[in-house]
Amino acid sequence: MEIFLDTAEIEDIRKYKDFIDGVTTNPSIMSKRGNDNPLDVIREICDTIDGPISAEVLSENYEDMLKEGKALAAVHSNVCVKLPCTVDGLKTCKALSSEGIPTNLTLCFSPTQALLAAKCGATYISPFIGRLDDIGQDGTELIENIVDIYEVNGYETKVLAASVRGVQHVVQAAILGADAITLPVKILKQCFEHPLTTTGLEKFSADWENRKK
Ligand code: G3P
Repeated sequence: MEIFLDTAEIEDIRKYKDFIDGVTTNPSIMSKRGNDNPLDVIREICDTIDGPISAEVLSENYEDMLKEGKALAAVHSNVCVKLPCTVDGLKTCKALSSEGIPTNLTLCFSPTQALLAAKCGATYISPFIGRLDDIGQDGTELIENIVDIYEVNGYETKVLAASVRGVQHVVQAAILGADAITLPVKILKQCFEHPLTTTGLEKFSADWENRKK
């Protein structure tokens, strides 16, 4: 399973570079970089790590999304143009895919949106599992449905679990066969941690210090 970092912070990307396959961003994440030019931020990320970098369009109609998507893709061959699961977003996905530009279809909340994204040639589909959990639905069930639909129909679109709220989501996505997951720094950190590892190390160290001399 590919692991992406859901951030636009260069320091975090540098710090966890050895453990991640790429980066995903969205307008909320980019807004944390203040007035930095989005194209410059994406270029900076591409210069920091070699792997798929999802960069989202801000416009909402086909013509503007297509223009914006091409400008983002021109920054670096690793850029994956992130588009919403709307009629215009899917139409843009189809157009960009036909030109060989990688895409990531975002804000996916239903299996039918995922089916349409695959038919339009999306490289990744991003089901937002945490936001479904937030409204009392089961986000992991959506992953399961999409994985099944893609397998039965032979679609190559990769399932990228997004809107991850905890390590349990990481485990469930991996068990269900998601191809990728994107994690906020906080959750990636939690993936390394276990209290028994910490206390176990402390005990090893103390036992060694107190050995018979
Ligand atoms: O990058 C998309 C997604 O991961 C956003 O998650 O936490 O805003 O629901 P969240």
